[in-house]
Order: sequence, then C-alpha cells, then structure tokens
Amino acid sequence: MLVLGIETSCDETAVAVLEDGRKILANLVYSQADLHARYGGVVPEAASRDHLRKLPVLAQEALGKAGLTWKDIGLVGVTCGPGLIGPLLVGVSYAAGVALACGVPLVGVNHLAAHLFALRLVDPPVEPPFLGLIASGGHTLLVAVPRFGEYQVVGSTRDDAAGEALDKFGRLLGLPYPAGPHIDALAQRGDPTRIPFPRPMLESGLDMSFAGLKTAAVYWLREHPGAPLPDLCASFLEAVVEVLVEKALRAARRFQFKRIAVAGGVAANRRLRELFPERAASRGMEVFFPPPELCTDNAATVAACAFHRYHDLGISDPLSLSPDPNLPLHGWR
Ligand code: KG4
Ligand code: ZN
Repeated sequence: MLVLGIETSCDETAVAVLEDGRKILANLVYSQADLHARYGGVVPEAASRDHLRKLPVLAQEALGKAGLTWKDIGLVGVTCGPGLIGPLLVGVSYAAGVALACGVPLVGVNHLAAHLFALRLVDPPVEPPFLGLIASGGHTLLVAVPRFGEYQVVGSTRDDAAGEALDKFGRLLGLPYPAGPHIDALAQRGDPTRIPFPRPMLESGLDMSFAGLKTAAVYWLREHPGAPLPDLCASFLEAVVEVLVEKALRAARRFQFKRIAVAGGVAANRRLRELFPERAASRGMEVFFPPPELCTDNAATVAACAFHRYHDLGISDPLSLSPDPNLPLHGWR
C-alpha cells in the first residue's frame, strides 16, 4: 500500500510517499524558517498562507519523485494536532480533498506520535516496548510506549520545551531562528564546563522546567558581557542535554524499560547523541536515535503512523476530520 503523508502543523510544509509502512519513496520538506526569521518566531497567519501556497506544489513533486500518479495512492495520512490551528487546517483540508478525489481513506495523525514513528523507519526498525523522549520546539515529553498505539505520558516540561529554550537563548545571543542547529554547531568548539548554568529539577521527579534556565542565562549575560559565543552555547546546551538525559533514564528505570527512543527536532543534536548513549550504557540501558532528517518535522513519519493506524488498528477518519491544536498524546491511538 502507498501512503501519502502530509505535515503542516507548524512551519514546515512536508509531503512524503511511503510504501508498506516503512519504505520511503519520497520525503520532501520545505522549511518556512526564512519567512519567519525576521520576526524571531513563527507568525501563524503567514505560516498558514505559505502552507496553502506550497503544499499542492510539494505534493505533485513528491509523486513525481516516487514515480507515481494520484491513482497509485491508497491512503492519505495527515497531522491533525497538536500544532497551530491555521496551518493544521490547511493540511487537513487539503488531505481531505485528496482522499475525496482519489476515493481513498483519510487518517488523522497525532504529531507527537508521528515523531516516535521515526524509529520504525530506521534499519533495522526500533520497535516498542521503549521509553520515548520527545523533545521538540513545542513539546518535551517522556512517554511509556508498551506498543505503538499505546502512549502513556509519564513526565513533561512544566513551562518551555527544550527546543524552545534553545531558540529563546539563541535569540538572546542574536542567532537566527530556529537557533537549535546554530547552538549545536557553535557548541562543538566551546567548553561545556565554562559556565555553571543550573540543571532545573534534576534531582526530583519526571517533570522538567527550562524557563528558569533562560532567566539564569539572561542574568549571566548581563554580568558577563563579551563571553565567547562557543562557550556560552556549549554550557547552555550541556544543561539542557543533561536534564533530558537524566530525566529519561530515571523514567526508564521507574517504568522498567531497558530501551529509550529519542525523537523530535532536538534529537538531531550532536551533544545529546553523544552523551546519552554513554550515560545509558553505564546504567545498563540502550538508547536509539533516528537519523537527523527524521528527527525534525517531516511527513514520512506521519505516513508511517497513518499506515499503522489504518493497517494494524483498523482506524480511518471521516472527511469532516477536524484538527485539534491541543490534541493530547496520552491515551491517543
Ligand atoms: O520537531 P521539530 O522539527 O518541530 C516541532 O515539532 O517543534 O523541532 C524543532 C525544534 C526547534 O526548537 C529547533 O531549534 C530544534 O528542534 N532543533 C535542534 C536541532 N535541530 C533542530 N536543537 C538542537 N540541535 C539541533 N541540531
Ligand atoms: Zn515536531
């Protein structure tokens, strides 16, 4: 079965074609980052308009890349939340139109569940049971996943997401939006021990907090003008990464998982990908990362999740499918 996947929940327009739930025939991502860069963050209406402009072009391109026509598509999967309502409406309306025109089922997908499906697209696939850590620009969650389709959120950030904290810190430093990849690159030549940024809530529970870290950075920058950028980035990143790693390891131990799967844009980070396996190994656990291009927003993961819902769970949605900007992951199938 050939699945067309569509993702427009934030500022990436993405279309993918997936064969039999795992084989990627096309995976196109168009980032609106340049459009939003001058505002330092995503402007929802501009994002919606740009999705509307770009999505049909990208879908046609994806089919061409896969060597297919509309007649070949057997299922349409689309992100229906969580995310920005305008961008979600563009994707869901377009997907419903395609499903109607092609006479194929429509399947709505939870964006956070889709992030976890990146693990099924690696070779060999990483299948549950595992403890999932989803760290992106909008969310930071710890999820017990006994099997795909069963998600129990066991911890989350109480304020900013990990990627959001990096993006806000980068904005303080004058880095372009989104700052995560720039901080990643600068940190490579910095000293992570140079500035003792706090590790909020490190010693207790499974919830996280990153807003205080940003405040600490504001004060530190005020008192130390002219500190070297690479050291600032490496030290801030180290604090974020250490909190993510320790919380995920604690959750895995508490819920008796031996394996941890990391997903979401921040999972592309090099320091996280370096430190996590070391710490996990020292505690007898294993950690898995998708390749970076499947960590950040894309539609191949959406198609994989849609295939699973339809093929394994027997779920499809009506053409009147309505997006939910706050769609929870907990309890979603
Ligand atoms: O999953 P994603 O693409 O979109 C959301 O669902 O939010 O995640 C985007 C977030 C942004 O905050 C971005 O700065 C961060 O992921 N990010 C990174 C890296 N690549 C993307 N953070 C650190 N290092 C990276 N290499
Ligand atoms: Zn995402």
